[in-house]
Amino acid sequence: MRTYRLALLGFGNVGQGLTTILRDHSERIAGQYGAEYRIVAVNTARRGCIYHPEGFDPGQLLSVYSETNRIDTVPAPYAGWDVLRVINESNADVIIDMTSSDLLSGEPAAGYIRAAIAQDRHVVTTNKGPVALHYPELSALAAERGVRLGVEGTVMGGTPVLRVGRDLLAAAGVARIQGILNGTTNYILTRMAEGESYESALAEAQMKGYAEANPAADVDGYDAAIKIVILSNLLLGVPLKLENVEREGIGNLSTKDIVRAQKVGEVWKLVAWVERGPDAVKACVKPMRLSLNHPLAGIAGATNAITFVTQLLGDVTIVGPGAGRVETGYAVLSDLLEIHQHMTR
Ligand code: HSE
Repeated sequence: MRTYRLALLGFGNVGQGLTTILRDHSERIAGQYGAEYRIVAVNTARRGCIYHPEGFDPGQLLSVYSETNRIDTVPAPYAGWDVLRVINESNADVIIDMTSSDLLSGEPAAGYIRAAIAQDRHVVTTNKGPVALHYPELSALAAERGVRLGVEGTVMGGTPVLRVGRDLLAAAGVARIQGILNGTTNYILTRMAEGESYESALAEAQMKGYAEANPAADVDGYDAAIKIVILSNLLLGVPLKLENVEREGIGNLSTKDIVRAQKVGEVWKLVAWVERGPDAVKACVKPMRLSLNHPLAGIAGATNAITFVTQLLGDVTIVGPGAGRVETGYAVLSDLLEIHQHMTR
């Protein structure tokens, strides 16, 4: 059995989702993979920080946090450390960055990731900004120090797309990637089609843990556009920037538009794509009115879908949860298991 000590930076939706998985499935994971995970530190921006070199009970972390809305009410030998002290002085093998970081600048996450790699810690991040902006630099730094950088949770939550695209489809010649990449807007559009107002559909998406800290990032199309940048950079090998993605959100769609489309058997979806052309790459996020027999028309709620248009296999489509607490927590677990597989290879 190999034990990995984890430091959690952030204890919001994803941090709690991961902790729930570790509370409920650790025994099975240990039996299946020979890997044991211990949460030794939890750092939050406003709700305290705790460190215990031997590790905490995940169930206790979750119950105390839900009762007190703080993490430093969990008994711990050390408390009050800032993020850099956790990175520099804790005994964590893996730093898991789930901080609430700015989507467009990638900060403070990018700085934390660099600091963690410099301390020879493996890193898993669910923050899209640093991956969209700095992946080549960060992955080179990680390779230099002999540590792993896991980023699976940045696109489609725990539904495996990045490793599938990079490892299994690269040789198939991916020419275009398209899909529904934002759970919040897809949830809102689905609920509006069911008669809900925009405002209450958004409130539901926030309550279910789908939306970004600032939901404008979802509804204005930035989140989907950043995911397109990540897909392009990691899977197509084409270095896009956010400003290269033509972008329109769902803000101009009214309930009337949605009902009008429904009447003629059509549905509005926020569709994103990137395509390698003969001389340039085209990338776009915009609402599209699709007929019901379109493959993306039936993708409802926070479900996402991605189609890889390839030379050798034709279209390969993956459908699955694109957001959510446990769903994104699972992405972190899959990166942790990838680190384990690498370490024991
Ligand atoms: N806010 C994002 C979404 C979370 O709704 O898809 C997952 O990246």
